[in-house]
Amino acid sequence: MASSTPFKTITLLLLTLLLLTAEVSATAPFGMEQYEGYSEGVMMFQGSIYGHAMEMNGTIEEIFDRFTLEHPEVELDFKSNATAAGFQAERRDLQGSEAHNKVARSKFGLQCCPIAAWGWTGAIQVIIEDGIDYLNHVQARCGVGARSCVRVSCSWNAGIYLCNDNYYGIFPSCPYIGSYAQDISNVCWGFSRGMEVCCGQEFDTDSYNVIVRYANEGC
Ligand SMILES: *[C@@H]1O[C@H](CO)[C@@H](O)[C@H](O)[C@H]1NC(C)=O
Ligand SMILES: *[C@@H]1O[C@H](CO)[C@@H](O)[C@H](O)[C@H]1NC(C)=O
Repeated sequence: MASSTPFKTITLLLLTLLLLTAEVSATAPFGMEQYEGYSEGVMMFQGSIYGHAMEMNGTIEEIFDRFTLEHPEVELDFKSNATAAGFQAERRDLQGSEAHNKVARSKFGLQCCPIAAWGWTGAIQVIIEDGIDYLNHVQARCGVGARSCVRVSCSWNAGIYLCNDNYYGIFPSCPYIGSYAQDISNVCWGFSRGMEVCCGQEFDTDSYNVIVRYANEGC
């Protein structure tokens, strides 16, 4: 009896770890519930990747994981920006909101960490840049529900989040959301334990904002 216990314990630990890992990937809380009135959701991806229609809820990494399984024949060449090019003009449009399309929108309030009492810390910059690369190579919208935040990208504890202050869902283009993360990465970077890290937040006059930070929740 006694000799089988360690094995069982280890098996149980591994199972727990697997379950935790699986959960983190989609629905684990990521710390934004502290934000008054916000709930945490899952990003709604709608559009196409390299010409193939794709609709899925999850982070951009989870979406590309699925995409590469479904389309192993497609070679993802992030050196070429040809695929995203046709989407540039559209990148700021929010789907299905005529009234909003008439209002001039702009970015504002870029701030680097530390921000208020959030306690956000730096994410490894090259990992954030990978997330931005994914976002720049889709012709799609990255949706977020009313009064909630979603994880747009999360890999190696480096997270890009989109928070929506509106009382309705919004569907900004994914490359445009990537451009906020790029602004933050360009301006809000520094060194931590010998690595380049970045951390910050940028707002849009359309009442949403993008956050780049270390993902305490794991991913
Ligand atoms: C994504 O989530 C939304 C909101 O929960 C849901 O309505 C939609 O059907 C989901 N889409 C997919 C592809 O699972
Ligand atoms: C990529 O974008 C840059 C800058 O916008 C442009 O100069 C270049 O021609 C583009 N390359 C391709 C392959 O579209």
